[in-house]
Amino acid sequence: MQYKPNEDRYEKMEYRRCGNSGLKLPAISLGLWHNFGHIDVFENARSILRLAFDQGITHFDLANNYGPPAGSAEENFGKIFKDDFAPYRDELIISTKAGWGMWPGPYGDWGSKKYLVASLDQSLKRMGLEYVDIFYHHRPDPETPLEETMATLDLMVRQGKCLYVGISSYQPTEAANAIAILKQMGTPCLIHQPKYSMFERWVEDGLLDVLENNGVGCIPFSPLAQGLLTNKYLKGIPEGSRAASHRGNGAIDEEHVSEVKINKVRQLNMLAEERGQNLAQMALAWILKDKRVTSVLIGVSRPEQVLDSIRCLDNYSFTSEELRKIDSILK
Ligand SMILES: NC(=O)c1ccc[n+]([C@@H]2O[C@H](COP(=O)([O-])OP(=O)(O)OC[C@H]3O[C@@H](n4cnc5c(N)ncnc54)[C@H](OP(=O)(O)O)[C@@H]3O)[C@@H](O)[C@H]2O)c1
Repeated sequence: MQYKPNEDRYEKMEYRRCGNSGLKLPAISLGLWHNFGHIDVFENARSILRLAFDQGITHFDLANNYGPPAGSAEENFGKIFKDDFAPYRDELIISTKAGWGMWPGPYGDWGSKKYLVASLDQSLKRMGLEYVDIFYHHRPDPETPLEETMATLDLMVRQGKCLYVGISSYQPTEAANAIAILKQMGTPCLIHQPKYSMFERWVEDGLLDVLENNGVGCIPFSPLAQGLLTNKYLKGIPEGSRAASHRGNGAIDEEHVSEVKINKVRQLNMLAEERGQNLAQMALAWILKDKRVTSVLIGVSRPEQVLDSIRCLDNYSFTSEELRKIDSILK
């Protein structure tokens, strides 16, 4: 049946300005790293995307290598986009990235102009789009001069293949250098995409300050530590969960569900219940409490998880006592 989005979708979501730019992003964005590939159920992927947009989630995040197999999340997204979302293109922020290994040989990985230009052209073809809203360099390349990688991002904007550019997983000094080069070229760095959750707090040691000082937005990924920061692993590893599914491509497996982690998860879960939230909601709220964060990038395996997670927006303020308790659990 032809998809008709909810008419009240923009009343439900909060939109935050991305750094000093003109662009606002939804406080919750949806990532297609896992659960949208050819190994997954296509109609489930479609239901998730429809429900997300119905809730005011206007930002979908992809990368050349999402699937598995690599490229298949973009292909599936392209099909769903054509059927369901094409009339709403101007209401959507679609991002993609390149920087991890995508095809064999010396031109299918890292940060050269040769790789990035070819990869974005492939992504646009797979998704059936004329342009993406944000193109990211996916990870720093220790060998390619930063000037070459940043000049390529600048070129893509000038060619109209993307509107904005961003960087992902750059350390504070690397990020500051990249931001400065882009600024000099007249193409500001819109946003940084770092891994950030209660279990991985490296961004607090300098990166968030660099971004704030330069007017660059921040969109943390894996905010639930791929599902660990929910109540799902409290009684073992459920069938069908990411840790049980051996998806590869960076997905957690059984080894990540350690007793040490789960012990902390139990204590965090109790605190979340005291706040009237579940742990997934508290873990997302804990990230959104920081005004330097533009949007939090969630992943889901089922439409209901979108509805559940989005309720973090009901309460993302914490007392200093709650923050102290969280810090002492995480120590
Ligand atoms: N830039 C980068 O290098 C990079 C790297 C990784 C990810 N990302 C981006 O970040 C996005 C999110 O990453 P992620 O998928 O690791 O995020 P995440 O939110 O930490 O983990 C998602 C997983 O958590 C579980 N989950 C989600 N909501 C839940 C809820 N309400 N209750 C219980 N369980 C819930 C689901 O696990 P089950 O599948 O077990 O149900 C889901 O697949 C990606 O899609 C991608 O766009 C970027």
